[in-house]
Amino acid sequence: MRVLVIGGGAREHALCHALSRDPQVTALHCAPGNAGIAELAETHEVDAVDGEAVAALARRLDAGLVVVGPEAPLVAGVADAVRAAGIPCFGPSADAARLEGSKAFAKEVMAAAGVPTARAYVCTTPEEAAEALDAFGPPYVVKDDGLAAGKGVVVTEDLAHAREHAAACERVVIEEYLDGPEVSLFAVTDGETVVPLQPAQDFKRAHDGDLGPNTGGMGAYSPLPWADPKLTDEVVATVVQPTIDELRRQGTPFAGLLYAGLALTSRGMRVVEFNARFGDPETQAVLARLRTPLAGLLHAAAVGALADAPPLRWSEDAAVTVVVAAQGYPERPRTGDVIEGLADVAATDAPDAYVLHAGTRREADGRVVSAGGRVLSVTATGPTLAAARERAYRAVGRVRLDGSHHRTDIAATAAEAQSAAADTVETA
Ligand code: AMP
Ligand code: GLY
Repeated sequence: MRVLVIGGGAREHALCHALSRDPQVTALHCAPGNAGIAELAETHEVDAVDGEAVAALARRLDAGLVVVGPEAPLVAGVADAVRAAGIPCFGPSADAARLEGSKAFAKEVMAAAGVPTARAYVCTTPEEAAEALDAFGPPYVVKDDGLAAGKGVVVTEDLAHAREHAAACERVVIEEYLDGPEVSLFAVTDGETVVPLQPAQDFKRAHDGDLGPNTGGMGAYSPLPWADPKLTDEVVATVVQPTIDELRRQGTPFAGLLYAGLALTSRGMRVVEFNARFGDPETQAVLARLRTPLAGLLHAAAVGALADAPPLRWSEDAAVTVVVAAQGYPERPRTGDVIEGLADVAATDAPDAYVLHAGTRREADGRVVSAGGRVLSVTATGPTLAAARERAYRAVGRVRLDGSHHRTDIAATAAEAQSAAADTVETA
């Protein structure tokens, strides 16, 4: 199978990493890619949100499968254009991708499907916003209705800040605050059959201890040793399958990756958000453990054949991903800084730990420089979360990027809980 991946972040690097190990994949292409992806796939220049351009590239490459990574091309209808060209595409139509593209639409679908989520008001004027903020009280949750790369959400105790963010958005969703740990569950679907991946946890805030502004995600790990083993089945039954069924009923079937962002609150599980694509950085941790060849799975989803797909196989290992971000991320990331130490990681830490590039570019002189806010992520596997963490941070320590920052507490609490549970078993 000849595969073309659209996108150029660490998620797409992780997808290419997994696809490159699938014996069914005879040629791997990526557009636009990045400096790391270029070592695994042939990269191509393309305007990723231009459906006709992507379809033309896929035709020229004789692709048998196109995998669309990021949300912007999906919302722009790139998957529709590829399918219209007769090429199997993993990724929902523009209509179905509104589940991520509009928070208000997602709320409507959840209401129709009976899916538990935070109570919310959609507001278009400062007066409406003020009323909604008063109705819920602090902490305030204010979300830009449209796509904002994970940065359109403000959660704050400060009413003035909440009002300011609401005023800066054209249409805003103001909702009830959800307490409790968050879980990301990805499900591969062909619009009818749902195949869940293993759950992961993401770290959204910029700094240790969940402080600082919201980001696209600063790290992730999987599996979740603290979670109820029945969690995945419960999420499929109460969230994913009803949502997929409702979208099909509305005439906008969703084929691709449905990402359910969940809060396990004191009053039960609630959906925080849906995304219409693999999450970044959770994908790096989840795919590090998937043993089933990826191309066959995604192709089955693209052609409506998931009901016949064999059950997924997983490694027993844990995986941890740590994002290295540019100076100033998320507010004003600085780009153009040289990244050093990548060869050291490849020589010393592989295959247990490896770098997945996000915002990177190779200069004509061969140096790799930063080209985005989240510059790269390091993913490591190990028999326990503690072992995976240690390997990930050892590799992060070899990467040199002036002014960069990363969180030092990714998976720390879960690793401690896992070790404590193992100690209890040993002494019992
Ligand atoms: P979203 O883009 O909707 O995923 O929001 C980004 C992040 O903001 C989430 O991962 C949560 O950490 C936080 N958040 C969003 N909605 C809520 C809510 N209703 N209550 C508490 N935190 C929230
Ligand atoms: N990790 C959060 C996201 O992909 O939106």
